[in-house]
Amino acid sequence: MGHEVVEKNIGLMALFIVLVISVGGLVEIVPLFFIKSTTEPVDGLKPYTALQLEGRDIYIREGCYVCHSQMIRPFRAETERYGHYSVAGEFVYDHPFQWGSKRTGPDLARVGGRYSDEWHRVHLINARDVVPESNMPGFPWLATDLVDETGTAAKMSAMQTLGVPYSDAEIAAAADAVKGKTEMDAMIAYLQVLGTSIKSGR
Ligand code: HEC
Repeated sequence: MGHEVVEKNIGLMALFIVLVISVGGLVEIVPLFFIKSTTEPVDGLKPYTALQLEGRDIYIREGCYVCHSQMIRPFRAETERYGHYSVAGEFVYDHPFQWGSKRTGPDLARVGGRYSDEWHRVHLINARDVVPESNMPGFPWLATDLVDETGTAAKMSAMQTLGVPYSDAEIAAAADAVKGKTEMDAMIAYLQVLGTSIKSGR
């Protein structure tokens, strides 16, 4: 009886659908805000240095996330290729996180330490010089453009507000830490730290 009423009344049906999805969603999502393993940093996780943070911002500016995810799923095919699967505690200082899902290129969650700085330099200027079949675009301007140090301290205090444990001294030293560095230096500093807080076993 009741069922027939709901089936014949689209408004009521819509209301119940919204209700069911909201409850389902809340039950799945809300606990994640309170579970330690999703809110606390893994042992050894350090906030990005001023230079790494600038690199992260250049990564976003250049749209690297359009082709690269930073999220290793807990499947054999992924862990064999990339190393230990990603865990939530690795990303607590990432605002915003760069998980993504589009993989035109490989996942970068554990690329830190996999190649030398020089490999990255050559690869970012023209990927085909080291990976002949690559279709990754070149980013040659990174090698010559300098990091704009005027916003670094403000970025770090914004992160501090979001709970990243920067000290005031680190923030005060931020501009000097990145002054005169190229965007390439910043990008490589960022790439080399990705995923290094967990030993990947590779
Ligand atoms: C149009 C898609 C595309 C974009 C945009 C892109 N990449 Fe790539 N990237 C690829 C592909 C495809 C590969 C695999 C071939 C290769 O190694 O060049 C790759 C490989 C890589 C690798 C080597 C990964 C490994 O494990 O071997 C790194 C590091 C990397 N990209 C960094 C970046 C960075 C940093 C940016 C932004 C400045 C970027 N990529 C932008 C497509 C892209």
